[in-house]
Amino acid sequence: MLVILKRDYEEVSREAARIVAGAVRAKPEIVLGLATGSTPLGLYRELVQLYRDGSLDFSRATSFNLDEYLGLSPDHPQSFHHFMQQHFFSEVNLPPERAHLPDGTISGDFDRYCQGYEERIRAAGGIDLQILGIGRNGHVGFNEPTSSLASRTRLKALSRETIEDNRHFFSDASKMPQCAITMGIGTILESRRVLLLASGRSKAAAIAKAIEGPITSSVSASALQMHPDVTFIIDEEAAYSLTEREYYRHVLEMTEQFTPERLS
Ligand code: PGA
Repeated sequence: MLVILKRDYEEVSREAARIVAGAVRAKPEIVLGLATGSTPLGLYRELVQLYRDGSLDFSRATSFNLDEYLGLSPDHPQSFHHFMQQHFFSEVNLPPERAHLPDGTISGDFDRYCQGYEERIRAAGGIDLQILGIGRNGHVGFNEPTSSLASRTRLKALSRETIEDNRHFFSDASKMPQCAITMGIGTILESRRVLLLASGRSKAAAIAKAIEGPITSSVSASALQMHPDVTFIIDEEAAYSLTEREYYRHVLEMTEQFTPERLS
């Protein structure tokens, strides 16, 4: 694992954008795995700016989002469809027919729908670069604690902590969905490269467990320790509880010197 320590949220966003932009330029037909939440907002803002400057082109890219709330239609202001439209898709030239999100309005045979989402990822060639945030409880996507480390896209009941963290986005807190459709940890681990972004002290405990703790379904992000190409980009506050910060800085220096392609 590479752990890139940055001073603050702005630096995290810029570094993530540098890596994503490099990946898109290196492979214009890239398949991106995208995340929602407050963490990747700065990354999207940077990518939109690069697109506007004419230095980035998404016209051949494809994307798959991690998750969507169950019961929310794409035009619901709190849906992840709406979030992606507002902060990214409406601002860049990624073709709408190649921007995929789980459908929050499905009912009935959830397993069949979720298998279809997995099949679409496979048919696109698999995810080249997956962007992740992390929940205070260590979740990635909506893979709440005790999610199987082999899980695939499925219907998932949200944890109390996640509902508390997100309830304030809903004008009527009682309308906060209780479930979501989310890619599984097994799905995420199949992507070729993973970038996890985190900022702020509220993420410090989850980050320390994910990077330095045991691999456990109690902390979904700890499963990333099994991934051969994962990069954590985190600010000082989110890194607060890591014990090996000096070593991560040394690894980064050595990587810059000997295998800089890992950072491009
Ligand atoms: P946040 O959410 O970026 O809004 O903190 C992260 C997550 O829950 O995965």
